[in-house]
Amino acid sequence: MLSDQSRPVIEQTIGVVAERIPFITPEFYRSMFEARPDLLDGMFSRSNQKNGTQAQALAGSIAMFASHLLTHPDGYPDELLSRVAHKHASLGVLPEHYPIVHEHLFGAIARDLGDAATPEVVAAWDEVYWLMADALIKIEKGLYTGQANAVAFAPFRVAAKERTGTTTTAITLEPADGTPLTPAVAGQYVTVQVRMPDGVEQPRQFTLVPGPDGTRRFAVRLDERGEVTPVLHHDVRVGDVLQVSNPYGDVVLAEGEGPLVLASAGIGVTPMVAFLDRLVRQESTRRVIVLHADRSAEEWALRELHEMLVAELPNATLETWMETPCEGDHDGFMDLSGVAVPADAEVYLCGPLPFMKAVRSAVIAQGVPGRSISYEILGPDQWMLHDEARDA
Ligand code: HEM
Repeated sequence: MLSDQSRPVIEQTIGVVAERIPFITPEFYRSMFEARPDLLDGMFSRSNQKNGTQAQALAGSIAMFASHLLTHPDGYPDELLSRVAHKHASLGVLPEHYPIVHEHLFGAIARDLGDAATPEVVAAWDEVYWLMADALIKIEKGLYTGQANAVAFAPFRVAAKERTGTTTTAITLEPADGTPLTPAVAGQYVTVQVRMPDGVEQPRQFTLVPGPDGTRRFAVRLDERGEVTPVLHHDVRVGDVLQVSNPYGDVVLAEGEGPLVLASAGIGVTPMVAFLDRLVRQESTRRVIVLHADRSAEEWALRELHEMLVAELPNATLETWMETPCEGDHDGFMDLSGVAVPADAEVYLCGPLPFMKAVRSAVIAQGVPGRSISYEILGPDQWMLHDEARDA
């Protein structure tokens, strides 16, 4: 809980701090990577640094946390903390990293705010930082001890690479040493370290999709302008060894008997096939409304698996929207006006942000409460949906 001294100071300064984050963030990362270039080798994504808005997620979340402390003095924003802690744990973030981020973030804040960064202001924001850091460290510790092994990354050999859809490759990995494997919960992801042509390791998260027992399998959609996916598509070969994290991620299927809606677009299909596979294994008789949007049937990643899993469930139906439709597809973007969504449905969304916002609004308009809608953002979350989710 925020102290009585800090509360009024945070109230007075949260507006200006939130407003300055776009200016503070580049300076924070510049100074941190100058002092610790090793953090760009296997920890931070270089691409996220190039993309200014995404880099703001870390500092922005501290302002978000502070605003939550002001409006809900007795609690923490659990959803925010859980998402970040899972992401951190998948990257191997440790308690000793927190003072490094603190030093450079607060250096950047002090330089940006100038005279406005009085000792009282700095002390109050310090308190917010350490409240958040301690909460994250605690969750991360629990996540690490819940694993079957004590390592952040273990070596895995590429056992298979298959095209699945014109722009997506599915990669199956088998353990390359005796590190015990933590079983993954459907919907979880792993961080995969990929060596770039200049020798630097770049981490990326990929949702696990169904594969042979004892393996990790994920699907990579090619982004020709990206840094990592072209290497995974073109350069990584069967037999190569990659460092892979334990499974993390808190967007998992809620147990229950009520109806489910699984709506995806593009590569957002990956958690949906994991959920469907779990339902098939459970011999579930739940009503499952599966909705998928893509550019075309050819581009639809894991299409055969997606269709097969739906066919195996007695009460599941599949509807598709394609920008280039074939027989049976709706034309264009997903439109729920013809889909009756039961008000007691649990809804899962995965795809680009505009897709999730549109589908979320449409589902809410049909009477589903915001708290029944979960979503997985592939990439850093800007928390845009979180405010809306709480208000709904
Ligand atoms: C990602 C917050 C400390 C490393 C993130 C994200 C947030 C965040 C909000 C984006 C999560 C997402 O939506 O994907 C924080 C806060 C911290 C903190 C509030 C301190 C209180 C640290 C520390 C490290 C670290 C100490 C390690 C040096 C990372 C990395 C990512 C990340 C590598 C992935 C995103 C990227 O590569 O750009 N953090 N973080 N964070 N954080 Fe932290």
